[in-house]
Amino acid sequence: MRVRICNVNELGEGSAKSVQILARRVAVFRTGGQLYAIDGDCKHMKASLAAGEINGAVVTCPMHGWKYDVTTGACLNEPWAQLRTYEVAVEDGVVWVELPA
Ligand code: FES
Repeated sequence: MRVRICNVNELGEGSAKSVQILARRVAVFRTGGQLYAIDGDCKHMKASLAAGEINGAVVTCPMHGWKYDVTTGACLNEPWAQLRTYEVAVEDGVVWVELPA
Protein backbone atom coordinates (compact mmCIF):
# COMPACT_ATOMS: atom_id res chain seq x y z
CA MET A 1 0.00 0.00 0.00
CA ARG A 2 1.35 3.36 -1.05
CA VAL A 3 0.79 6.30 1.30
CA ARG A 4 1.20 9.99 0.58
CA ILE A 5 3.29 11.71 3.24
CA CYS A 6 3.63 15.35 2.16
CA ASN A 7 4.94 17.61 -0.57
CA VAL A 8 8.70 17.24 -0.87
CA ASN A 9 9.25 20.96 -0.27
CA GLU A 10 7.72 20.52 3.22
CA LEU A 11 10.64 18.29 4.20
CA GLY A 12 13.67 20.54 4.60
CA GLU A 13 17.09 19.26 5.57
CA GLY A 14 17.07 18.02 9.17
CA SER A 15 13.29 17.86 9.39
CA ALA A 16 10.71 15.09 9.60
CA LYS A 17 7.04 14.40 8.94
CA SER A 18 4.94 11.61 10.31
CA VAL A 19 1.59 10.16 9.33
CA GLN A 20 -0.74 7.80 11.14
CA ILE A 21 -2.03 4.93 9.02
CA LEU A 22 -4.49 2.82 11.02
CA ALA A 23 -2.44 1.52 13.97
CA ARG A 24 0.91 2.41 12.42
CA ARG A 25 2.77 5.70 12.53
CA VAL A 26 5.47 6.24 9.93
CA ALA A 27 8.06 9.00 10.05
CA VAL A 28 10.04 10.33 7.11
CA PHE A 29 13.29 12.20 7.72
CA ARG A 30 15.48 14.24 5.41
CA THR A 31 19.14 14.17 6.32
CA GLY A 32 22.23 14.39 4.15
CA GLY A 33 19.93 15.29 1.27
CA GLN A 34 18.25 11.87 1.38
CA LEU A 35 14.82 10.75 2.58
CA TYR A 36 14.40 7.83 5.00
CA ALA A 37 11.22 6.28 6.38
CA ILE A 38 11.01 4.28 9.60
CA ASP A 39 8.38 3.44 12.20
CA GLY A 40 7.37 6.72 13.78
CA ASP A 41 6.84 5.50 17.35
CA CYS A 42 9.74 5.10 19.76
CA LYS A 43 9.95 1.51 21.02
CA HIS A 44 10.31 2.73 24.60
CA MET A 45 7.02 4.53 25.27
CA LYS A 46 5.76 5.39 21.78
CA ALA A 47 6.78 9.04 21.62
CA SER A 48 6.74 10.49 18.12
CA LEU A 49 10.23 10.31 16.65
CA ALA A 50 9.35 12.94 14.06
CA ALA A 51 9.42 15.40 16.98
CA GLY A 52 12.95 14.34 17.87
CA GLU A 53 16.23 16.07 17.14
CA ILE A 54 18.12 14.90 14.04
CA ASN A 55 21.89 14.91 13.91
CA GLY A 56 23.29 13.27 10.80
CA ALA A 57 21.65 9.86 10.53
CA VAL A 58 20.59 9.79 14.19
CA VAL A 59 17.27 10.94 15.62
CA THR A 60 16.96 11.37 19.37
CA CYS A 61 13.59 10.61 20.94
CA PRO A 62 12.10 13.74 22.52
CA MET A 63 10.88 11.88 25.61
CA HIS A 64 13.82 10.04 27.17
CA GLY A 65 16.58 10.32 24.61
CA TRP A 66 16.81 6.93 22.96
CA LYS A 67 18.68 7.24 19.68
CA TYR A 68 17.82 5.60 16.35
CA ASP A 69 19.67 5.40 13.05
CA VAL A 70 17.08 6.61 10.53
CA THR A 71 18.88 4.81 7.67
CA THR A 72 18.53 1.35 9.25
CA GLY A 73 15.92 1.70 12.01
CA ALA A 74 18.47 0.42 14.54
CA CYS A 75 18.17 1.62 18.13
CA LEU A 76 21.57 2.67 19.45
CA ASN A 77 20.48 2.17 23.09
CA GLU A 78 18.62 -1.14 23.00
CA PRO A 79 19.45 -3.63 20.22
CA TRP A 80 16.04 -5.34 20.54
CA ALA A 81 14.25 -2.05 19.73
CA GLN A 82 14.70 -2.30 15.96
CA LEU A 83 12.29 -0.14 13.94
CA ARG A 84 11.00 -1.13 10.51
CA THR A 85 12.22 0.77 7.48
CA TYR A 86 10.11 1.60 4.43
CA GLU A 87 10.77 2.49 0.81
CA VAL A 88 10.42 6.18 0.01
CA ALA A 89 9.72 7.63 -3.43
CA VAL A 90 9.33 11.18 -4.69
CA GLU A 91 7.11 11.68 -7.71
CA ASP A 92 5.90 14.99 -9.09
CA GLY A 93 6.94 16.74 -5.89
CA VAL A 94 5.11 14.34 -3.57
CA VAL A 95 6.73 12.03 -1.00
CA TRP A 96 5.29 8.49 -0.91
CA VAL A 97 6.02 5.57 1.39
CA GLU A 98 5.39 1.94 0.50
CA LEU A 99 3.84 -0.02 3.36
CA PRO A 100 3.63 -3.80 3.43
CA ALA A 101 0.16 -5.16 2.60
S1 FES B 1 9.57 7.25 24.65
FE1 FES B 1 11.36 7.37 23.45
S2 FES B 1 12.98 7.17 24.84
FE2 FES B 1 11.18 7.00 26.05
